[in-house]
Amino acid sequence: SRRRFTLMLSGVGHAGCRRHRDLMRLGRSRPGRLGCADLSRLSGLGFLGSGFTKMVLRAALPGGEVIALKAVHWAGSEVSGCVQRYGHPAGCYRLAAYKLLKEATLLQRLRHPGIIKLHGQCYDNSLDPDIRVTAMLELGSPLEMIQLLQTPWEERFKICRSLVKLLHYLAHSPLGSVVLLDFQPRQFVMVDGNLKVTDMDDASSEELSCKEDNDCTLDFPTKSFTLQCTTAGKCEGINEKKNLFNAYRYFFTYLLPHTAPSSLQPILSDILNATGDLRYGINETLGAFEKVLHLYKSGLYLQKKYISLMGFHTMESQDYKCWPSYSHQGCMLSVHSAEEAAAICNSHPQCQSFIITHQRTWTGRHLALFRSSLTDLIPDFNAVVYIKRSSTSRERL
Ligand SMILES: Nc1ncnc2c1ncn2[C@@H]1O[C@H](COP(=O)(O)OP(=O)(O)OP(=O)(O)O)[C@@H](O)[C@H]1O
Ligand SMILES: *[C@@H]1O[C@H](CO)[C@@H](O)[C@H](O)[C@H]1NC(C)=O
Ligand SMILES: *[C@@H]1O[C@H](CO)[C@@H](O)[C@H](O)[C@H]1NC(C)=O
Repeated sequence: SRRRFTLMLSGVGHAGCRRHRDLMRLGRSRPGRLGCADLSRLSGLGFLGSGFTKMVLRAALPGGEVIALKAVHWAGSEVSGCVQRYGHPAGCYRLAAYKLLKEATLLQRLRHPGIIKLHGQCYDNSLDPDIRVTAMLELGSPLEMIQLLQTPWEERFKICRSLVKLLHYLAHSPLGSVVLLDFQPRQFVMVDGNLKVTDMDDASSEELSCKEDNDCTLDFPTKSFTLQCTTAGKCEGINEKKNLFNAYRYFFTYLLPHTAPSSLQPILSDILNATGDLRYGINETLGAFEKVLHLYKSGLYLQKKYISLMGFHTMESQDYKCWPSYSHQGCMLSVHSAEEAAAICNSHPQCQSFIITHQRTWTGRHLALFRSSLTDLIPDFNAVVYIKRSSTSRERL
């Protein structure tokens, strides 16, 4: 948030007029449906959160809809730090207001389900130099990483997928490839189980210029990458890659693998590895996520591990034992379905195949016979043998 602050401040004197014209221009364009007049009709104000630069309140519209209001955080570290350093309260406040206006303008231009919706804004310069800026936004709830870790895998996958879709949009946005310079979980909120970015004051669509590849390094605390410098003198895909690695380190590593269905683990590890090494761009990452979604929704991930062989049966002969087996010769357990039998077979290292027999227990569940080998197949029209794909021959998803 504070990186380019000094730069902007040094321009206060001579660029003041230009900025004022900028603000006038931004203030007039108000395609959102709410404006200054709506501010006086709000009720039920409450505190939602604050950061370095901005403060966020909740408020109800006359119809009852609750929205979020963003304004400059007077007591925030950005304004107070600036005042301490430069002793110019009005200028410091104006710069913070300019950031909020920039954010509102970006939210207005960039519309996507992964970006918080701007309902409107109020820019009132009648009090100049105390410019009042208020952005009226869709209401979200803060992202609680600890809580998220306790939600089902399916929900965590949804969050990661909304993030990937957002980054795909940002990489190909109407403003060019947009990077979120200050990419952290606290810049996001949840709306109906979907992740949305709310802090855009540190977004940029400028791609780094370069003379050689060495000018194009992406430095992270744990890793750095050197990208290619194109003939046009730009670091190839640097904005997209920066976003993607941040998504990997702040979101995917925590949310994606934990308690995922075991047969999806290989493809998820692949996504983690490929984004963690920046082997994938955002397009390939999105493709991989859509593949996971498809496998998961269709149940294909369950069948992938087993080949079903119709019209065969296995002879009941001596084989590995398990507890509490219904047969003395081998491992026979009651199951509800082939899926359950597959899960049991997965958990037995010896198990290579199983059949669902016609025998049932008193509750009506089928007895399944688990086998460590594939010998003794005998034809049986009504039976199906399920054979585990060996891990070495497992098809790449
Ligand atoms: N639409 C919203 N709905 C609910 N809460 C929100 C919304 N937007 C922001 N918040 C909360 O307000 C906090 C501050 O907002 P924001 O991140 O925009 O301010 P900031 O000063 O730029 O913060 P930072 O110091 O992180 O850059 C957020 O961390 C978030 O918890
Ligand atoms: C990806 O896999 C390779 C090969 O196994 C390994 O060397 C590398 O460290 C992995 N990278 C990440 C980010 O996990
Ligand atoms: C990625 O996808 C976008 C939009 O779907 C497309 O315009 C772009 O050319 C693709 N980029 C690459 C490198 O494939």
